Amino acid sequence: MNILIIGGAGYIGSHVAREFLDRGYKVTVFDNLSSGLRENLFPEASFIHGDILLYQKLKEAMEGQEAAVYLAAFKAVGESMIKPEKYSLNNITGTVNLLNAASEAGLKYIIFSSSAAVYGEPAYLPIDEKHPVNPENYYGFTKLEIEKFLGWYDRLKGIRYASLRYFNAAGYDVKGRITGLEQNPANLIPVIMEAASGMRSELAIFGDDYDTPDGTCIRDYIHVNDLATGHALALDYIAKNNKSLTVNLGSETGSSVMEVLQTARRVTGKPIPSRMAGRRPGDPARLTASAKLARELLGWQPQYSDMETLINTSWKAYAREAGNSCTR
Ligand code: UFG
Repeated sequence: MNILIIGGAGYIGSHVAREFLDRGYKVTVFDNLSSGLRENLFPEASFIHGDILLYQKLKEAMEGQEAAVYLAAFKAVGESMIKPEKYSLNNITGTVNLLNAASEAGLKYIIFSSSAAVYGEPAYLPIDEKHPVNPENYYGFTKLEIEKFLGWYDRLKGIRYASLRYFNAAGYDVKGRITGLEQNPANLIPVIMEAASGMRSELAIFGDDYDTPDGTCIRDYIHVNDLATGHALALDYIAKNNKSLTVNLGSETGSSVMEVLQTARRVTGKPIPSRMAGRRPGDPARLTASAKLARELLGWQPQYSDMETLINTSWKAYAREAGNSCTR
């Protein structure tokens, strides 16, 4: 099957592209390289340097494709609250373009990288797909709106989709085939890796007075190779059943900020300086997934999402920076 990976040079996209290549798909990556990296492209995949806001180019890229994976969204929660226009344009207008191009080009299937951010403050844990959706930030709002667009194009145009609600994506390819580091990361594990490798001076821990055993926030970290497998299984499911799907992808395990930091200190052997900082607005104390639906419908089972493997694979990608870095 021919598949277009939109945003396939990015952190998650490159892992997804690798997964589909490994499964024998004919992969084309479409990316504007705004945060994606040439280093993340594979010689076996075709590459189109394009932007989802440029309709004609996107439509041409979709000609002859059966499926697309849609990962080309901005994702910085904090930034989305300050620059909603940027998120409206790329995430919402980009989606309208993408769906119109898909329907004109006769694309059958879309796998969408949605987010646990659609749920907002948890009403109960673990969060299953029946949990009310009530995003607390503009980024999460855009992801939820995209899901609604997908629902309408399914009904009206017959484009089947899988909306995958990722929890906290982390780790690097277990076989070490992806080496591009995210630029200016804001997420916990890459920030810890930068502190371990000397690319930044320390980790600021955002709050230690939450109602959790050690006072720091608990999240559900899911390895990016496990996420990538979820995409392939989801495409199999919607193609086989001719039916769309919305599922959580999470490890169903919670780790606190302190637990992540301690594992990172042990695995890297680096001191990783940290300091207590104030709470970051909008952080719920705990977020954990129920991934029962993905397990039951897709036969999906995370293999690499224990904290040790998450840190170990990340450190392999960052360690080469440790020798030649200076504090930024
Ligand atoms: N944290 C720190 N210091 C940092 C960065 C993060 O203490 O420098 C803490 C946060 O306060 C939070 C935890 O580490 O308690 C995880 O924070 P991340 O920023 O890594 O991730 P979030 O849980 O805020 O959000 C991530 C994605 C969202 C997604 C969500 C789903 O960024 O897109 O997971 O669970 F919606």
